[in-house]
Amino acid sequence: MADINRQILIDQIPAGKLGIEHFRMTEAAMPTPGEGELLVRTRYISLDAANRAWMLGPTYRSALSAGQLMAGGALAEVLKSRAPGFAPGDLVFADTGWQEYAVLPARHQTKVRAVEPMSHLLSVYGVAGLTAYFGFLECGKPKPGDTVVVSAAAGSVGIIVGQIAAIKGCRTVGIAGGAAKCALLTKELGFNDAVDYKAGDLAGALRAACPDGIDVYFDNVGGDILEACLFNMKNHGRIACCGAVSQYDGAAPRGIRGIPGLIVTKRLNLQGFLVMDFYEQREKAIAKLKAWVQSGQLKVHEDIIAGFENLPKALVGLLAGENIGKRMVKVY
Ligand SMILES: NC(=O)c1ccc[n+]([C@@H]2O[C@H](COP(=O)([O-])OP(=O)(O)OC[C@H]3O[C@@H](n4cnc5c(N)ncnc54)[C@H](OP(=O)(O)O)[C@@H]3O)[C@@H](O)[C@H]2O)c1
Repeated sequence: MADINRQILIDQIPAGKLGIEHFRMTEAAMPTPGEGELLVRTRYISLDAANRAWMLGPTYRSALSAGQLMAGGALAEVLKSRAPGFAPGDLVFADTGWQEYAVLPARHQTKVRAVEPMSHLLSVYGVAGLTAYFGFLECGKPKPGDTVVVSAAAGSVGIIVGQIAAIKGCRTVGIAGGAAKCALLTKELGFNDAVDYKAGDLAGALRAACPDGIDVYFDNVGGDILEACLFNMKNHGRIACCGAVSQYDGAAPRGIRGIPGLIVTKRLNLQGFLVMDFYEQREKAIAKLKAWVQSGQLKVHEDIIAGFENLPKALVGLLAGENIGKRMVKVY
């Protein structure tokens, strides 16, 4: 085992767009676990749009600040255990932050059962899969034949939402940036249609893709795309408010026009949710997701970047839309 622990700290909180210059690498001493603690080694670190949102202010966690270890979730392997119920080789999903080794209080950890490939524990059987599953089914309440629209549709959550919608007998339309992503959605992933929001005339393209209106909109991006979808919702439509990535990385905040006509008259239901709201039901959801993956109904796309030192670049790239599916960094 190494005797140093590489860490990536936040050097400055960006005023505008995040860049790699806002991070710095440092070397700390290898941490030692005390009574009731675990020493873990990070295997895969998850890259999430929320990593950037945590720099904006308090959310469901306190705001990140300059000088602190960059926060992030990781799949980590226990190296030493000083707590009952954990042994070397066990895997946990934990908020380790961006470092190669971490000491964690054992009482806050849940072991995860190994699967092959291990990376699926961060994608389809991890936060991305569970967010898609619960957000879409519990907040979207889809019915067969519904028209379902999902934004950031080629991203980690969206790519799964669209496929679950197809499994549930819905007509699916993905919104994504660029012709290549749109082609992937319709040609390989079973979406009925795709809208390239970077091609201009988003409102017209959405009307063409959803001529009878939208029953369910799964919103990953907020801002202009949320507004465009609101104008196309059917009466009694449901909007699952998952996140607002268009608002995380320095863009001027956007409001929504026409709320009385759009939301009141159409009697829309907009429901925000956090994946942890459904923690108790996760085993049931994972079993369903596994069955869909094994039957070939749900295809898993992962975007794995090797090398701990590439974390800042990987996050900046995710916010710029480089990724297809779940982005993560393989540490070792
Ligand atoms: N509620 C929850 O519990 C929960 C849990 C997990 C994640 N989330 C939310 O889920 C959403 C997806 O997050 P993720 O971590 O899975 O990231 P992701 O979807 O894998 O990646 C983010 C994607 O957002 C798109 N994007 C970036 N800027 C955009 C903009 N201005 N307008 C439209 N699209 C833009 C990019 O794709 P394009 O090339 O298509 O632009 C990019 O690939 C986020 O809003 C996140 O906060 C919520």
